[in-house]
Amino acid sequence: MFVSFRFVLTPTSYVLETLPMVYQRYLVTSALPYANGPLHVGHLAGAYLSADAYVRFLRLSGKDVVYVCGSDEHGAAITMKAYREKRSPKEIVDQYHTGLRDAFDGMDISFDIYHRTTEAVHYETSQEFFRTLNEKGAFSVQESEQYYDEEAGQFLADRYIIGTCPKCNYENAYGDQCENCGSTLSPTDLISPRSTLSGSTPARRKTRHWYLQLDKNEEWLREWITTGKIDGKEYHDASLWKKHVVGQCKSWLDGGLMPRSVTRDLDWGIPVPEELEGSEGKKLYVWLDAPIGYISATKQWAADHGKDWETYWKDSDSAIVHFVGKDNIVFHCLIFPTILKTEGSYNLPINVPANQFVNLEGNKISTSRNWAVWIHEYLNDFPDRVDALRYYCYKIMPEQRDSEFTWKGFQDANNNELVNNLGNFVNRVMVLTQKYYEGKVPTFDESISLISPHEAGMPSWHDSELLDLFDQLHELRSCIKTFDFRGGLKVLMEISSKGNQLLQLNEPWKNVKEDPESVAVVMNLAIQYVAALSVAMRPFLPSTAEKVRSFLALAAFTDKSEFTDIMDKLSEGEHLIDPDHTLGQAELLFTKVEDEAIEAQLSKLQATIPDAEEETPEGNGIKHEIAFQDFEKLDLRTARILEARQVPKTSKLLELKLDLGFEQRTVVSGIAGSYQADQIIGTDVVLVANLAPRKIKGIESQGMVLLAEDEEGQLGFVSPPEGWSQGDIVK
Ligand code: MF3
Ligand code: ZN
Repeated sequence: MFVSFRFVLTPTSYVLETLPMVYQRYLVTSALPYANGPLHVGHLAGAYLSADAYVRFLRLSGKDVVYVCGSDEHGAAITMKAYREKRSPKEIVDQYHTGLRDAFDGMDISFDIYHRTTEAVHYETSQEFFRTLNEKGAFSVQESEQYYDEEAGQFLADRYIIGTCPKCNYENAYGDQCENCGSTLSPTDLISPRSTLSGSTPARRKTRHWYLQLDKNEEWLREWITTGKIDGKEYHDASLWKKHVVGQCKSWLDGGLMPRSVTRDLDWGIPVPEELEGSEGKKLYVWLDAPIGYISATKQWAADHGKDWETYWKDSDSAIVHFVGKDNIVFHCLIFPTILKTEGSYNLPINVPANQFVNLEGNKISTSRNWAVWIHEYLNDFPDRVDALRYYCYKIMPEQRDSEFTWKGFQDANNNELVNNLGNFVNRVMVLTQKYYEGKVPTFDESISLISPHEAGMPSWHDSELLDLFDQLHELRSCIKTFDFRGGLKVLMEISSKGNQLLQLNEPWKNVKEDPESVAVVMNLAIQYVAALSVAMRPFLPSTAEKVRSFLALAAFTDKSEFTDIMDKLSEGEHLIDPDHTLGQAELLFTKVEDEAIEAQLSKLQATIPDAEEETPEGNGIKHEIAFQDFEKLDLRTARILEARQVPKTSKLLELKLDLGFEQRTVVSGIAGSYQADQIIGTDVVLVANLAPRKIKGIESQGMVLLAEDEEGQLGFVSPPEGWSQGDIVK
């Protein structure tokens, strides 16, 4: 008789399991989104799906987890929107709070609470923090000159003021941050500042504010960020922090921390506690109140569930993890920790696994330009494909660098991976079990071998295959623990591929007649695979996991410790589903996304860009106003036509060779209806010299010649004055 491998092999993972720090309890947060617009796919792939997989996994590992989030309802992001739409800030946040909550819900983000920062408990919590920090000497009060918009009658902080970024020269950097390079700024850093309210150049005025003395915290922050220790005492495992997160913090620390004002002269916000001298008219800075929102949300959740919120924030066996986007790193790694540490009774986060940004079809996602995949629209267009979007977002998650969402990529991931791999495997197992055993898990003979998908098609035995499955699940666990969700998803799909190979190599459909004993071994193992997958997919594809559970007729998820349970079983060589258990009904898990659906999304995207071609409503044919900075981006130059020829097989196009004095360019121009090629040699024209090159009829066109068009559609060159030389600037 064959000696079972399970007594010989020890799974490697139990050794690795002894990490230096083990926490019983986790308080996990996702950045509170501003309630000034709907949720888009960039948000989702940034701070939400990452956290959701993490918390779902922790729950499946028997941990006590609270996952909090909510709407960020203060700050200039909100009041600017209200100002532009001539509505009150409260109306704005009420509208978008509901929209955000529903979108998260639709995408199965498993918050324990989705709170908001306009709730009374949050006002109290924030003001209490402010008082405590004040008592502990965290602030200095300073009078300074700040920008003031005389037309609007308001001080200009944060997003009320824009100008050129001193670091990257981006022209529309905000007073608090440059969205182009991610630098955090102060209004006085901006080159040529202007008010976003009136557009005017602001004057300076005196005002008094409370400043958080970040400079006094620099030393411990540096040790903590770079080594995970404070005064030599270990706080977290620094090797688990992402490089780009530590890098951003270090460059801040290297630049030297400055006191940072944490109050504002605004109407909308949480008032500075009124007993404090000089509090009149002052509000808390949004970046002071928002992270405290995590605490208020936990308080509310605890009150609703009869729990003690403090254990999650303060006990030594509790861990705090903040999931954020890269633009939030400094707030969560330097400023909020300073606040927590100064207060004195709170834990510091054990990690801030920030993601970078997702671009969409080659461009930055932009709410104002409507260049986004809006979640509420996706849910409307693809109501049955929540997990398909989740899947693709994990696949392209910008964990270490920016990444790219494309609709084609989404379609491919769905059709090639979800349909052809995962869906196909589960379906085959269900159908074959139904067919051969009327849906009953077959009993099998342990001494019969099968062909192993793990050992390059070599013979193997049932229980050593179970141990391999264990090892794969262990790898998946390591990925999730180290915030490598892309890696975790890949392992999940590898398990499914192995399952498909198991069937492919052993061909039960061929052997079921002659060798039913072997087929029973294979099918039993395949069913164990599906059972393992149902749990392993839960963090990523929660509703698919539920479906597979029902196919298998297993108890619905309790989200208490299913992962730990199957790992325990597999490590003992035990089955996840016993022989003779009757499976339930199956249906197809995924279906193909057709080309038409993708084309429809792409054309919707194109159509939503505010069209530069569009006319103003005045009816004079003049296009919409553009900013001076946009005009300045054009580089127009004088040039002379050296050569011209008709582009073969076209009636309208001429290929021109242009001389700019310092170089020559080839340009394809649609003027053949108005000029003959040989007429125009030697003509002086104006060239858009910095237009991205385009291929037209196989010719690379390196710029565009300016043409005037009359009412009949007749075209004529716009020419510089006679005697002008080539390559001169036109402006
Ligand atoms: N609302 C901020 C943003 O969208 C994030 C706030 S996170 C919190 O960038 F910590 F302040 F809550
Ligand atoms: Zn910049």
